Amino acid sequence: MTRGPITVFGGTGFLGRAIVRELADAGQRVRIAARRPTLPDWAEDGDQLELVTADIRDEASLEAALAGASAAVNAVSLYVASRRVSFAAIHVEGAGRLARLARQAGIERLVQISGIGATADSSSAYVRARARGEAAVLDAFPRAIIVRPGVLFGPHDAFLSTLSGLTRLPVIPLFGQGETRLQPVHVVDVARALIRLLGEPLTERRLFELGGPDVMRYRDILTLVLAHRKRDRRLLPVPFFIWRMLATLLSVLPDPPLTRDQVILMQRDNVVGDGAGTFHHLGIVPRSLRESLPECLATE
Ligand SMILES: NC(=O)c1ccc[n+]([C@@H]2O[C@H](COP(=O)([O-])OP(=O)(O)OC[C@H]3O[C@@H](n4cnc5c(N)ncnc54)[C@H](OP(=O)(O)O)[C@@H]3O)[C@@H](O)[C@H]2O)c1
Repeated sequence: MTRGPITVFGGTGFLGRAIVRELADAGQRVRIAARRPTLPDWAEDGDQLELVTADIRDEASLEAALAGASAAVNAVSLYVASRRVSFAAIHVEGAGRLARLARQAGIERLVQISGIGATADSSSAYVRARARGEAAVLDAFPRAIIVRPGVLFGPHDAFLSTLSGLTRLPVIPLFGQGETRLQPVHVVDVARALIRLLGEPLTERRLFELGGPDVMRYRDILTLVLAHRKRDRRLLPVPFFIWRMLATLLSVLPDPPLTRDQVILMQRDNVVGDGAGTFHHLGIVPRSLRESLPECLATE
């Protein structure tokens, strides 16, 4: 594919692991960069995988992770900010730092993973940081490609497995009326898109929004999971202000199960917008949530 290794920052995460797998299957040398990098469980002798310890907040470790690489992907995430680490530190300053050092290191191609709905005027600090992060990356590395996936699903994901856990409750609380529209996308399809973006001649497009083929209301996805689990439960609408109050109360916990930012995210449709590149432009037909659900929720 490319000459030097491709460094996948966040290569041990849910999306990062899928990207590493697709790259390795394509015969590409891959460098897995994270604070605690580990080899994937499928790795075999002969796979061209390197591990490097890197923290996106630490300049020297990023330089080492980028040295000699031909391309880089930033799939580092932070979903819950804390006193120790802010969204800005990871998604804005970290992403910008990585882009600047990638440019200095002569990296040919950089892909920044963001998320659908990244807007600078959001009431969510998380969403604002994602938008500012995109701008910081393009400022430092103007030819970088921004990829915004929708909510990711796949085996051992956080999304479907959380919904599956909810189906054990006698009554399932909905965010509002459960009408928010989502466009879930299979993690492997996003990884396949990344391989195209890293391997093919540079496209003129700089922004991609990747959603699956099904746009579904949150309540319809829950209904699908309930049917798969063969459970019959009442869906209970809960107003968003109650969720916000709950998230505020839970924010005192070290690892809160729900945050204000997550509630805000659930208040807006999360679907592919107009104008960005899509799977269609990459020649990929993404798999549907309906058809993939049994494989994703094979175990409980
Ligand atoms: N999951 C989704 O539904 C979804 C939807 C849309 C967009 N995205 C985006 O996709 C990207 C990947 O998300 P994910 O769900 O795969 O994340 P994840 O499973 O939480 O993985 C996060 C990765 O980042 C690494 N990491 C965390 N802090 C780091 C730091 N300070 N320096 C270096 N590495 C660090 C982690 O390894 P260590 O802890 O060992 O460092 C891990 O490899 C993110 O940009 C996310 O916003 C995800």
